Amino acid sequence: MNKGLFITFEGGEGAGKTTVIKEVAAHLEALGIEVVLTREPGGIQISEKIRTIILDPVHTMMDGRTEALLYAAARRQHLVEKVIPALANDQVVLCDRFIDSSLAYQGHARGLGMDEVYSMNQFAIDGCMPDMTIFMDVTPAVGLARIHANASRDVDRLDMETNHFHDKVYEGYQILLDKYPNRIVKVNAERTPDKICAEVNQLIMNKLNEVNTLN
Ligand code: TMP
Repeated sequence: MNKGLFITFEGGEGAGKTTVIKEVAAHLEALGIEVVLTREPGGIQISEKIRTIILDPVHTMMDGRTEALLYAAARRQHLVEKVIPALANDQVVLCDRFIDSSLAYQGHARGLGMDEVYSMNQFAIDGCMPDMTIFMDVTPAVGLARIHANASRDVDRLDMETNHFHDKVYEGYQILLDKYPNRIVKVNAERTPDKICAEVNQLIMNKLNEVNTLN
């Protein structure tokens, strides 16, 4: 049996994370690997409710620190109820967003400070960091154009932010790539989905082999 693995996916709006995660999960399952596919904020009932509050377009008065605390609260509950039990069962957890989103969006783009948001999140995650993070690299212009071309997608409060905000999110991720070169892997997500999925599948297989060889 494989050891559990915690893999998170990051990127700005329109990076295509959701599509890629689904395909990668199907690929791993076809190989007999047990996969838990989940997302932040959300993944379980309490955190999905918090998600609704955070992303409601009506909540334009939400304070930046309140926003950061709500993401962290949703993160804590999701970890305790879903991620940690799955890892204990040696499953591979594929999570759409995690702490790096808070660092890039609230810490850098919102201006709360990456170090401050990191410290605050330590209380929520209590040392549970991903084994690997895939950063789906799409420039904000391409990502936002994809979103606006997708008429079926509901526009949430974060989508309504300015282009400057989305540029800052992208800049935040570049800072994180420099800071955590061993954990975060950049994948060019401006290519076709099959090329992106093939690369991500390979990265995950390599990580699985590495973790299982070490144990
Ligand atoms: P999603 O659209 O990828 O599902 O994510 C929801 C939005 O929440 C997206 O705009 C990114 C944002 N977000 C943060 O600002 N901070 C966080 O910690 C997380 C998890 C998401």
